[in-house]
Amino acid sequence: MTRPPYPATRLRRTRATPALRNLVRETEVSVNDLIWPLFVRQGEGIEEPVASMPGVVRRSVDKIVAAAREAADLGIPAICIFPYTEQADRTEDCAEAWSPDNLSNRAIRAIRDAGIEVAIMTDIALDPYNINGHDGYVRDGEILNDETVAALVRMGLAQAEAGADILGPSDMMDGRIGALRAALEAEGHTKVTIMSYAAKYASAFYGPFRDAVGASGALTGDKKTYQIDPGNRAEGLACAARDLSEGADMVMVKPGLPYLDMVRAVKDRFDVPTFAYQVSGEYAMIEAAAAHGWIDGDKVMLETLQSFRRAGCDGVLTYFAPRLARAINA
Ligand code: PBG
Repeated sequence: MTRPPYPATRLRRTRATPALRNLVRETEVSVNDLIWPLFVRQGEGIEEPVASMPGVVRRSVDKIVAAAREAADLGIPAICIFPYTEQADRTEDCAEAWSPDNLSNRAIRAIRDAGIEVAIMTDIALDPYNINGHDGYVRDGEILNDETVAALVRMGLAQAEAGADILGPSDMMDGRIGALRAALEAEGHTKVTIMSYAAKYASAFYGPFRDAVGASGALTGDKKTYQIDPGNRAEGLACAARDLSEGADMVMVKPGLPYLDMVRAVKDRFDVPTFAYQVSGEYAMIEAAAAHGWIDGDKVMLETLQSFRRAGCDGVLTYFAPRLARAINA
């Protein structure tokens, strides 16, 4: 058979017009895919810029309530709360972590009391309350696993008590999901969901976040004995399998863009609600380049969300959430 006098496949045909492109688009981005991380701090009426994350602020509780209302108005289904703690809240026993009146729990209650319909996610790890900035207890330079898990369970229960919908253990200790799930069941919190930071890597992309929560100065050493080595894929899958078997409802891959292969692998293998965290360093890089006029920030922001969806994400934690929502709703 002779070759036809035209390209055998003209894949450009379906790209020819906006209508055809819309018709064949495989993944859609939606405001429903967004979780907006928020930083809460002491005080009232405060919105304090985070230097390494242009456009991101630390909010006092009243302003967190306003942000939760903004999220609901924009159609963003969930927010995630992180505390910026004062030096006095950082101790060796991390007791503030499970105080019913700590910053996070006060913010959760205030949002619930305001009757705002938005899902509230939390972070479970000791780092905002730990004198040395680590996610777990440290003894003689070693991170203690089981003692830390017991503290994390108390922390998670206090968050559930305050009214959180999604608990997000980000600490990477072994056995924390099972222990937390058992405690939630025992205390009657049967409807509280767990999104485990399952494939969480020991990443340099968290730098600006540690600045935002005031942990950069505090951290001694690194987190490599509990967060995953960036070279490892099977280990990330093993963590997701383990967390799901212990009772996680949803799993997360973190960071986001540099780890989209893990998103796809987790989604394909487990077929469960899968999320990624577009972390602080990813946000900062895009913002920095956009500020120089080197990239079109809005277009890049939307393209990253589309990439997360294409890789298999059901949703994304991103500091761009309100801007994305406005761009999508426009
Ligand atoms: C705390 C925690 C971190 C992030 C979320 N929860 C920092 C860390 O593990 O050191 C990072 C989020 C971001 O960089 O945006 N365990």
